Amino acid sequence: MPQTVSGVVAREKGAPVEVVPVVVPDPGPGEAVVAIQACGVCHTDLHYREGGIGDNFPYLLGHEAAGIVETVGGGVTDVAAGDFVILNWRAVCGECRACRRGRPWYCFNTFNASQPMTLEDGTPLSAALGIGAFADKTLVHAGQCTKVDPAAPATAAGLLGCGVMAGLGAAINTGGVGRGDSVAVIGCGGVGCAAIAGARLAGASRIVAVDVDVRKLEKARELGATHVVDATAGDVVEAVQAVTDGFGADVVIDAVGRPETWKQAFYARDLAGTVVLVGVPTPEMTLELPLLDVFGRGGALKSSWYGDCLPSRDFPMLIDLYLQGRLPLDAFVSETIGVGDVEAAFDKMHRGDVLRSVVVW
Ligand SMILES: NC(=O)c1ccc[n+]([C@@H]2O[C@H](COP(=O)([O-])OP(=O)(O)OC[C@H]3O[C@@H](n4cnc5c(N)ncnc54)[C@H](O)[C@@H]3O)[C@@H](O)[C@H]2O)c1
Ligand SMILES: [Zn+2]
Ligand SMILES: [Zn+2]
Repeated sequence: MPQTVSGVVAREKGAPVEVVPVVVPDPGPGEAVVAIQACGVCHTDLHYREGGIGDNFPYLLGHEAAGIVETVGGGVTDVAAGDFVILNWRAVCGECRACRRGRPWYCFNTFNASQPMTLEDGTPLSAALGIGAFADKTLVHAGQCTKVDPAAPATAAGLLGCGVMAGLGAAINTGGVGRGDSVAVIGCGGVGCAAIAGARLAGASRIVAVDVDVRKLEKARELGATHVVDATAGDVVEAVQAVTDGFGADVVIDAVGRPETWKQAFYARDLAGTVVLVGVPTPEMTLELPLLDVFGRGGALKSSWYGDCLPSRDFPMLIDLYLQGRLPLDAFVSETIGVGDVEAAFDKMHRGDVLRSVVVW
């Protein structure tokens, strides 16, 4: 029997989100219904609500979640009812060209549930990133459920489902940060602070945090930044060079995603260094650069989707590190809120008051 639950829906571009009844079908073959325990509010949810990602309204928001598998459909063997899982938006297919050549984190045929969740009148909902977890329960592809150690609280575990994984992975997977590297991170929200935590985990010797908000710089220090730069106080590139012996950083991560921050990243890295773009730009943004600088400075210019993570590899490992006290996921949870408080959480995100507001059930 389909179930009716409460979910946070963005009905139209720019309109405040509403908590409305959502119909969740029984899981079909390869699908699972998951009872959500916690779901973080990510900037990407706000991008959806503002029409920045697509026009497929109404959206069921929420995509950074952990919970308990309630039921599975036919043919599901990797997870079962009762399993504690983190939801992911990269259920790899195993068969596309990227998967076959051993780079499944670039899979271009990732799985989502094939049945839609709907409003009570039958209107299909577009689930944010194929998840839609600001709801008591959600329907996903079973491959979107990654089992992890249930000793971790859902508030911490769920964060790996999007922003924190994106930041950690931008440093560890995409940026390839290693022992002794210098790293600069521009924008220290949830994603940027996770990149800082990732750089520390990977053994970076200098970690420079850059933000326009001094509260974020304090948080960045707590998570491992060795130097902080107030971007409103002067030239960011010079400031990064000043604390890296004049060279610039080996890896610079842009966790804002604007042309001006990307250019700062480009020039704040040392020769042959790596730029990682993990902040998401909007369609009207363009970039102009002297091509000679691109050539002459060498190195690598990369983007990081979801931290180039492989959920089945990375989530259980990172939860183990968390349980060992080596990855401070709890430090990202600024507040826990109710399902009716998502709109207020967007305001707090806008004002920079929080790293992560996490909805709990
Ligand atoms: N690539 C991915 O897979 C992925 C996944 C999740 C989120 N994201 C994106 O990452 C970005 C950051 O997400 P978040 O949740 O951390 O957002 P956030 O709003 O919490 O953080 C953004 C931070 O950037 C700072 N900032 C803004 N302008 C700046 C500037 N000019 N210079 C320096 N700092 C500046 C803000 O003060 C804030 O601390 C968003 O664009 C989000 O959509 C990407
Ligand atoms: Zn694939
Ligand atoms: Zn997200």
